[in-house]
Amino acid sequence: MATMDTIKVTKASTSRRGNVDFSKLAFGKVFTDHMLVAEYANGAWGLPEIVPYGPICFDPSMATLHYGQTIFEGIKGYRLADGTAAVFRPEDNFKRFNRSARRMEMPDVPEEIFLGGMKKLIQVDESWIPQDYDHALYIRPFMFATDEVIGVSPSTTYKFMIILSPVGPYYAAPMRIYVEEHFVRAAPGGVGYAKTAGNYAASLHPAAVARARGYDQILWTDANEHRYVQECGTMNVFFVLDGKLITPGLESGTILEGVTRDSVIKVAGDLGIAVEELEIAVDELSDMYNTGRLTEAFGAGTAATIAKIAELRNREQVMAFDPENAPVADRIKQILTEIRDGKTVDLRGWMVPVA
Ligand SMILES: Cc1ncc(COP(=O)(O)O)c(C=O)c1O
Repeated sequence: MATMDTIKVTKASTSRRGNVDFSKLAFGKVFTDHMLVAEYANGAWGLPEIVPYGPICFDPSMATLHYGQTIFEGIKGYRLADGTAAVFRPEDNFKRFNRSARRMEMPDVPEEIFLGGMKKLIQVDESWIPQDYDHALYIRPFMFATDEVIGVSPSTTYKFMIILSPVGPYYAAPMRIYVEEHFVRAAPGGVGYAKTAGNYAASLHPAAVARARGYDQILWTDANEHRYVQECGTMNVFFVLDGKLITPGLESGTILEGVTRDSVIKVAGDLGIAVEELEIAVDELSDMYNTGRLTEAFGAGTAATIAKIAELRNREQVMAFDPENAPVADRIKQILTEIRDGKTVDLRGWMVPVA
């Protein structure tokens, strides 16, 4: 079985780190010097290896390219105030990764490879972790089917990889979004709760339509009636109603169970803010807005952490929220940032040291 010490490391001959301007990092455009690779065949995982970052070569018949049997995760690593490096709640992403794997009929990835390999890879590329506020090392584990065959059946071989990307803030400005009543992200019994590529591919056209209409994102609604709030882009969504935080529950299996979502719920609890997970009808949101009870709206996800919603359009109604007056979102973001920067007590051991 692989352990962090048995992972073979082949170092890049030169580092590209010196060529990167860390003050101008776009999201997901720059990658570190190394990547982790592990292969699955004959019912077992081989030993993972860390090798120089670079292209990978495949047969045109590779199953993933045709049938989309592939899953991924998104995690962030930070430089703490004491100078050490730590990753935010990676065990939760590890568990979600294997939930996605099972739904997509793929093998579980062992903890030693996913978490042990991640730590070792970050150690090797530690100099790439940005220091600035709201910057991070984005960690992208992924697995894909590698059988070379045309035919719809689960692959018998897979590749698991981790790549790393230093990133700046994800969304610069508060978002303008509208309630989607035509396209559907996920239906009950489908793959909405899995972090699988097809969910994202299917969202590209609706998102392009939204952008053409001058909006940043869509607020997805349920597949049956387009009545109930689901999520927004790559974020779970929260509203502040009568000072209480509300967010859609996860029972339908159509929403991705966000690690940031869970963190927001727990931090809100610590702050004495009541939180309810429930079915939220869009028309009820409209009514609550009209009576002044709905005061904030924001998205929560690893990439953006907390992204405020400045405008939410429901048919003809525009719900405007003042991003400068969003005390709940601001307070929760501040605490999450302090935990991630190692500037406040990490009560739940969310920051997992890399060393
Ligand atoms: C569809 C979707 N919903 C919600 C989230 C938020 O999840 P997390 O907080 O774990 O990043 C993401 C991002 O991973 C996502 O892709």
